[in-house]
Amino acid sequence: MIHFSEATKKEAERLIARYPEGKQKSALIPLLHLAQDEFGGWLSPDAMDYVAGLLKLEPIEVYEVATFYSMFNLKPVGHYVFEVCQTGPCMLRGSDAIIDYIKSTLQIGVGETTRDGMFTLKTVECLGACGYAPMMQLGNHYREHLTKEKVDAIIQECRTNAAKNN
Ligand code: FES
Repeated sequence: MIHFSEATKKEAERLIARYPEGKQKSALIPLLHLAQDEFGGWLSPDAMDYVAGLLKLEPIEVYEVATFYSMFNLKPVGHYVFEVCQTGPCMLRGSDAIIDYIKSTLQIGVGETTRDGMFTLKTVECLGACGYAPMMQLGNHYREHLTKEKVDAIIQECRTNAAKNN
C-alpha cells in the first residue's frame, strides 16, 4: 500500500488543518498535488484512494475532481510535461502550429510520452495567460509567446537539465 513520506504527511496535515472541522474536503486539490508530486507525476487509483482515506472521502469524490482538472495526470507521464493551451486566443495566435511542431519534433501525439520517458505532450484549456499567447505550462512555469525556435530552445534546455541531473 502506498503512503506519503513523513515529510509529505506533515505537509498534508498542515494543509488539512487550514480548514474548519467538517470542511477538510477543501484540502482535496492541494493533497492531490502533493500526491502527484510524491508518486511519480501522476495519480494512480491507489494514490487517489490513499488521498480519499486521508480526507475520509469516498474514492469516487476524489476521482471526480482528479478527472475534471487537466493539471492532474491519470497515467504515467514523462519527466517534462508540455501543457499547451489550445483555447481561442492561443489558437488565434498559432497554438495549432506549435502543437504540430512539438508533435513532429518529439514524434509523439497529444497525450503521449516519448520513448525515453523524457517528454509528454498535453493540450489544455485556457491557463489565464491569453495576453502571452501562444503559451504552455512546463512544471511550475509558463512559457509564453511560443515560436518554433522557442520550442527548440525549451526542448534543448530540458535535455541539458536532465543530463545535468543524471
Ligand atoms: S487562451 Fe491560452 S492562456 Fe488563455
